[in-house]
Formats: sequence, C-alpha cells, structure tokens
Amino acid sequence: VPTVAVICAAGSGSRTGSPLPKQYRELNGVPMLAHAIKALFNSACVQQVVVVLSPQDAWYDVLIAPLVGDAVQVLRVGGETRAQSVCNALDVLDEQYDEAWVMVHDAARPCITPALVEALHDAVLLHSAVGGVLAMPVVDTIKLSDDGVLAKKTLDRKKLWAAQTPQMFKLDVLYNALSDALVDEHVAEGITDEASVMEWAGVSPMLIEGHVSNLKVTFAHDFELAEFWLERASR
Ligand code: CTP
Ligand code: MG
Repeated sequence: VPTVAVICAAGSGSRTGSPLPKQYRELNGVPMLAHAIKALFNSACVQQVVVVLSPQDAWYDVLIAPLVGDAVQVLRVGGETRAQSVCNALDVLDEQYDEAWVMVHDAARPCITPALVEALHDAVLLHSAVGGVLAMPVVDTIKLSDDGVLAKKTLDRKKLWAAQTPQMFKLDVLYNALSDALVDEHVAEGITDEASVMEWAGVSPMLIEGHVSNLKVTFAHDFELAEFWLERASR
C-alpha cells in the first residue's frame, strides 16, 4: 500500500504580516515549501509527494519548481480553509489510488525530518492503528477561558497533547470523513487538523511523539527559530 504525502500550501500566511505567503519566504536561503518537500521526498516510506496550492498561486512555478523539478504532483485546488484545501486534494487523489495511506503535512512546518516521518509511519503500521499524528506532550499549564480575560479553570496537563503534522490516515477513510464533516458549517469550524475529523467520525488516532523542532511557522518571530532548527539538522 503506497503512502502519499500531501503538503498544504494554499494559505496566505496573514499572521506573518508579510505580503509574500510564508511558504515562499526563505529560510537559510531556501523557500519554506522547498524544505518541506525535500524532507518528505527523502523519506523512504513516502512514494509520492503532492503539493496543494491556491488556484491563484503565482509563486510556485517561479520559486519552487526550479528547485524540486517535476517529481512533485501539483494540485491547484486550495479552498477557503485548510480543511477545504485538504478535502479538494483528497477528492483528486481518491480517484487516483485504489488503496493508499495519506500523510497530510503543513508547508508551515518546514523543519520536519525524514526520521520523524518514518517514526510516524512505522508506529501506525506496527500498531495497526487507524492512523496517527505527531504530537507533543504540553509543557505549559493550560487555562480555559470563555472571554479571553478571565481563567475559568486549569485543564489536566497530563492529558494534553499539541498536535503537529504530518498526520497519517487511510486516504479513502479520511476523505469520506472530511467530506461528511465539511457539509455542516458548525462541524467544519472545529476541524483544524485531520485527527479532529477522525475523532468527529468516532475514531481515535494514535499519538506519536514528535519533536520540538517541528514547529509551525505562524508569526514573524518564528522564522528565525525555524532557521535555527534547519541549520542544526544540517550539521
Ligand atoms: N492552508 C491551506 N489552505 C488554506 C489555509 C491554509 O492549504 N485555505 C495551509 C497553509 O498554507 C499552511 C497550513 O495550511 O501550510 C497551516 O495553516 P496556517 O499556519 O494557518 O497558514 P495560513 O492560513 O497561510 O496562515 P494565516 O492563518 O496566518 O493566514
Ligand atoms: Mg490559517
């Protein structure tokens, strides 16, 4: 059964405050998206790398294609939300594959390493899990607040994990769950990763410990941190 990696790169990166979408900004001289593509490409368990772009994307052909060549399958089917982008891509891939695992990854996590990708893959197959996600035990004490001003209570930290990507599931199972979930606007709002869709569908994904270096570049200050981890991994 092949494993297909789907990299979500159809966002605008509004929180970075820069006009160039973050996935195209350079980290140590290489665009963020190229880092993610290379890591998945260099993962022995991944047979195909797919990139999801916005239909209006004007940067991929100029900034990324010359670096990665045509081994990457490009789908210009990005939607309004990340979940919609993933669903549109799976719609295409579900036609293409009879049976496959899919690993959905954010272009915004450029410090992913082949070793982490393999760890996720091996753990899911070893435990015959329905699927799994890289995740980190939470180190902060987490407060619940209804109004963003007052802390109502403290959640039990021992039970809390912060999800990363990639997230690995059977392609058809994820596609069916996601397309069902997106029908209901209220449900769709709560879908912020693939694991949340599967949970909604009544399935419990496996948690596989990720790494602190696999951060999501969200704000301007995250770029330097990502550069640090990329540099460190290349040593
Ligand atoms: N993404 C996507 N399609 C969307 C929105 C996001 O494919 N409609 C992708 C982004 O390109 C990113 C990943 O999903 O790689 C995680 O999303 P996020 O970090 O929120 O990126 P953006 O949505 O681009 O950033 P922002 O929310 O700050 O605008
Ligand atoms: Mg976003």
